[in-house]
Amino acid sequence: MENKKNILTGDRPTGRLHLGHYFGSLKKRVELQDKYNTYIIIADVQALTDNFENPKKVRQNIYEVAFDNLAAGIDPNKATIFIQSLIPEIAELTVFYSNLVTISRLQRNPTVKSEISQKKELFGNKGESVTYGFLGYPVSQTADITAFDGALVPVGEDQLPVLEQTREIVRKFNSIYGETLVEPEAILSSNTRIKGLDGNEKMGKSLGNAIYLADSYEEVREKIMKAVTDPNRIKKDDPGNPNVCMVYYYHKLVNEENIKTVCEECKKGKRGCVDCKKDLIESMMNFLKPIQERRRYYEERPELVEKILMEGTKKAREKAKEVMKRVRENMKIDYFKES
Ligand code: TRP
Repeated sequence: MENKKNILTGDRPTGRLHLGHYFGSLKKRVELQDKYNTYIIIADVQALTDNFENPKKVRQNIYEVAFDNLAAGIDPNKATIFIQSLIPEIAELTVFYSNLVTISRLQRNPTVKSEISQKKELFGNKGESVTYGFLGYPVSQTADITAFDGALVPVGEDQLPVLEQTREIVRKFNSIYGETLVEPEAILSSNTRIKGLDGNEKMGKSLGNAIYLADSYEEVREKIMKAVTDPNRIKKDDPGNPNVCMVYYYHKLVNEENIKTVCEECKKGKRGCVDCKKDLIESMMNFLKPIQERRRYYEERPELVEKILMEGTKKAREKAKEVMKRVRENMKIDYFKES
């Protein structure tokens, strides 16, 4: 237990999690929970940076995100799931770290930049309204990670620039105040970014092209039937090009064992797109089945999930206090030797 490295990763509670989250990060964190001390943060403070007018939404999604993590296979006896806002040390560290980063460096962060421009597209030119809190979320995320001595951070590719900024802040902190913080590394999944069913490079809630882990058969069917296939294939027996087909792309993810057949039949024009989509719906539902069964188990036991979150938060807080003590000592702000 003692010399195992710590993993810190998590999600913003702004909605249910989808296949993009699953293949980008959840799957990896489930695999790694046996090998490392895993902390999973439900980042409500971060969610509030751009949802501060929507506290109900954030509150409701705390449970959705907890359900999705447990459904994906996170074992509460191995991993520690906790709520960010209940760890005041994270807020304290954020204040200290904010001195170590310039505004222009935050503005140049590619993740922050693209999130801001996405918002502009969605809400029109409200760019002027980017808040101090939102711009600074990489600083707060640095606190999320370092408060638990997070050494490894499984994240999707889109989060890499944020992690790079974390590493810079950690190095700067350590060079000024002495070796205090652990410098984290990213762990990328092999399928790091899942394309949308519409062929968009990214699957995203706001892009409306996502399959959620909790989607019903009807929802999955409707989405897959609309998926983009080879545009040059007009008739059912035209030879197809699987490489430009989103249905084939998803078969690769959830129907690996039959992938050769799917590919060959498509190329030979022996598999019509509609049949191919129907196959994919079946494979997708099979893939989601164990995930949805676990979700149902926890949904039927909300008091158990509450206990998991309460105990996880308590345990996480103990760890954060220990790190905070080190930080205060090294920053010379440990004025009184009370415990
Ligand atoms: N920013 C992450 C996301 O958008 C969520 C997150 C918050 C996180 N704090 C973190 C991820 C710390 C890894 C480590 O999904």
